[in-house]
Amino acid sequence: MEELSRRRVLELGGALGAVGAFAFAAPAQARPWRWSPAGSIPGTGNGADPRTVWDPEADQLVASLLDRGDVPRVNELLRTWTRNGQPLPGGLPADLRDFMERARQLPDWADPAKLGAAVRFNEKRGLYLGVLYGFASGMMSTVIPKEALAVYYSKGGANMKRRISKTAKLGYDIGTRNAYLPDGEMAVTAVKTRLVHAAVRHLLPQSPHWEHAAPEDVPISQHDMMVTWHSLPTTVMRTLKAWKVPIAADESEGFLHSWQISAHMLGIEDQYIPATWDLAESQAVEVLDPILAPTPEGIKLADILLDLGAGLDFTLLTRPILGALTRFMLGDEIADWLGIPREPVWGTLLDVAWGPFVAVREGLLPLPLAPEAYWTFDELLRQFVLLYMSELRPISIEIPEFNNPN
Ligand code: HEM
Repeated sequence: MEELSRRRVLELGGALGAVGAFAFAAPAQARPWRWSPAGSIPGTGNGADPRTVWDPEADQLVASLLDRGDVPRVNELLRTWTRNGQPLPGGLPADLRDFMERARQLPDWADPAKLGAAVRFNEKRGLYLGVLYGFASGMMSTVIPKEALAVYYSKGGANMKRRISKTAKLGYDIGTRNAYLPDGEMAVTAVKTRLVHAAVRHLLPQSPHWEHAAPEDVPISQHDMMVTWHSLPTTVMRTLKAWKVPIAADESEGFLHSWQISAHMLGIEDQYIPATWDLAESQAVEVLDPILAPTPEGIKLADILLDLGAGLDFTLLTRPILGALTRFMLGDEIADWLGIPREPVWGTLLDVAWGPFVAVREGLLPLPLAPEAYWTFDELLRQFVLLYMSELRPISIEIPEFNNPN
């Protein structure tokens, strides 16, 4: 499979012409796994290479649900299960109910004080998080080769807007005041997503498209999940630091904690979840940074993302501005991979004025003498938040029964 995919990648390399120095993930994949469980939350573990570990209990269960033809009924029942504290609906198959009762529990290391600090973080930084989850994390997912392939060829790949809105639900739920409290929704979202991933592991290997393009036999390993995890909180924190947004130490730790819990609830083993930001950074350098690369599928997904605001009433969420934002946040190399053109006006404005804008917003500088850029940027952030709240309204997350038929 590995050889096949490398050949396929070389073929695609030709098609990608403009992409230039085309480094696919394969060399990084060949590296031995070095990150030590000593840096994880429990500080210990068997140290198994996470590229060879998936989510066996959930995977077996969901494969069996699919084989038994139970998934449509399960999806219908689970549509009514939305709050963390809500009892599971009656009528679920006994093995699924049993699994979900355990999977919905927060880990015993969940710390209410840290989650309280996460709430303060989300309240203070919420305005930045829309653009960060969407156009730092979301765009980055298109240059994570294995994720781009899995998303493109799975059911959701056929309707990207719908898929984006479901993924946005997780970013939304984790940022709410009651995320993990009984009246919140994050535990539900995480458990449902865990089931979706298990279904994808069963279904994707049956897709002739994916089989042809895939670098592996079974998608979404523990390693892949940590890669994607780093494209979320680690990338958000890296970008906030680059923007010099001041963040109190306890709030930064709280934000990390809320994502550590989500990793656990998505089925990531504790031995792979970094205990601190420094350890997260050391893992991201090993697992995320070296594997970023373009793929034809990721380029198409990015193209769809850039049109997210098309036809809507958001005057600033246009393709050129979203492209300029991507280049500004993820850098020239990634923007060039994705074929995003340079935008002289918006590119320059972001390069020159974003830093001062953040400083003014954070109360570190007085209002500028020429405040136009300030208000434009403020409105841009506001439109992102509105986009998530209106157009990308949370939709119920459902277990897929088939792949992208196209
Ligand atoms: C589905 C989040 C890791 C591939 C989803 C959904 C969410 C989500 C919220 C449900 C939305 C939907 O049904 O479309 C996450 C998070 C991750 C993660 C927070 C890591 C921390 C990954 C990885 C891959 C992946 C590593 C692939 C390598 C997929 C696919 C779907 C999905 C293919 C299925 C959608 C469908 O076709 O129905 N993910 N994901 N995810 N995810 Fe993930």
